Amino acid sequence: MTTNQSIKPLTAAVNSLGHLEIGGCDTVELAKKYGTPLYVLDKFTIESICREYKTAFKAYPKIRMMYASKALCTIATTQLIAKEGFGFDVVSGGELFTVYKAGVDMSKVLFNGNNKSFDELSLAIDLNTGRISADNFTELEMLNEIARSKNKTVKILLRITPGIECHTHEYIQTGHLDSKFGFDLTQIDNAVELILKNYKNLELTGLHAHIGSQIFETQIYFDEVEILVKEIARLREKFALNLDEINLGGGLGVKYTNADNPPSVNEIAAVIITALENAIQKYRIDPPVVYIEPGRSIISTSGVTLYTVGSSKQVPRGTKYIAVDGGMADNPRPSMYRAEYSAQIANKANFSENLQTVTIAGRFCESGDILIKNIQLPNPEKGDILCVFNTGAYNFSMSSNYNRVQKSCMVLVNNSQSDIIVYRETLEDLISRDVILDGLA
Ligand code: LLP
Repeated sequence: MTTNQSIKPLTAAVNSLGHLEIGGCDTVELAKKYGTPLYVLDKFTIESICREYKTAFKAYPKIRMMYASKALCTIATTQLIAKEGFGFDVVSGGELFTVYKAGVDMSKVLFNGNNKSFDELSLAIDLNTGRISADNFTELEMLNEIARSKNKTVKILLRITPGIECHTHEYIQTGHLDSKFGFDLTQIDNAVELILKNYKNLELTGLHAHIGSQIFETQIYFDEVEILVKEIARLREKFALNLDEINLGGGLGVKYTNADNPPSVNEIAAVIITALENAIQKYRIDPPVVYIEPGRSIISTSGVTLYTVGSSKQVPRGTKYIAVDGGMADNPRPSMYRAEYSAQIANKANFSENLQTVTIAGRFCESGDILIKNIQLPNPEKGDILCVFNTGAYNFSMSSNYNRVQKSCMVLVNNSQSDIIVYRETLEDLISRDVILDGLA
């Protein structure tokens, strides 16, 4: 079993008070000390999964792990993951700036995205970002122009759409043919020709693909490796071009509920390594450098969100709603993707009696702001601390200020110690960028 197959952080336990503890910290105390909603990240769980990835891919020394920052990007988590030897996939000037400020070796950073702006690309070049994944013809031209004006040569990968369908939510599928991301297979030659003939400030080092997210199938990674290696071999024949890098993207799933059965990191690694060995032999190429960009599987399991239970409503002969003090602004995934989560009452962690089937409602002004439907909890009541598991990925990073509610605080826990890594927004923060116009006050 690897960490992505656990619903709860690896250090989750019940202490002598019957409270849920994480990283040796009583979560009820954390809620009291820092307020709720509160994102809690367990350092041990993050380190464990990073190490599992490294061990699983040991048999392929030319592997390069790049954490996909979009899952969660803060200075502290970046530094923690960098310490484990990972590089970083970034998709905006904001993520780029964060990893730079975190002190990351910029040669280990890859800049992705389907519509990077002039300013973002300029910043990436100024910061000597290791690779830029060029997504389309418009970008190739702009990137070459910026690089030329700075008298620099930029190493790029070509993002391609391999035409692989995976069984995940339509909105998080990216490798299928009708996708906004990357070059279609039929456009690659044209792009390569332009790079070789016209774009003298671009150096093409390899190909990049990403098939989707929250993936439970292993075979599609086999297919992806095959397609990328085949393309590299074909380009070698056609253009005498020796590309020696492929980037497989991210995608490994995690276990949000008992119904989820993601493969282990070891299973994914074994499939990828076998696929590489096969393809290398079949297409007679030297073993390429292989990047992988896991996001969710690195950070999701380490994170939980603590909420305080407030009001409740029993619909006559219908649903019992229990409302918490957060919701779709700190976790938009249930309303966006119908994502499901598991939860526990932190102050009743070993209660198994008085179970009631309830629906956890958020506090935001939309009927769709429901965090969990029909969950069994022990007599939930006002003041209880509800812990929702597996919220480390795509919660904070997709959070908003909807209803003008302050964004939540985030703490890192380890060895019974807790440290704030992102402050809770204040009411003053909320209005700090508002401009007061003359004559309106
Ligand atoms: N690389 C590329 C090019 C990507 O587009 C993504 C995710 C990743 C890596 C990381 O994938 P992961 O290992 O995290 O699955 N907001 C959605 C997920 C969107 C994923 C977008 N791309 C959600 O909350 O489920």
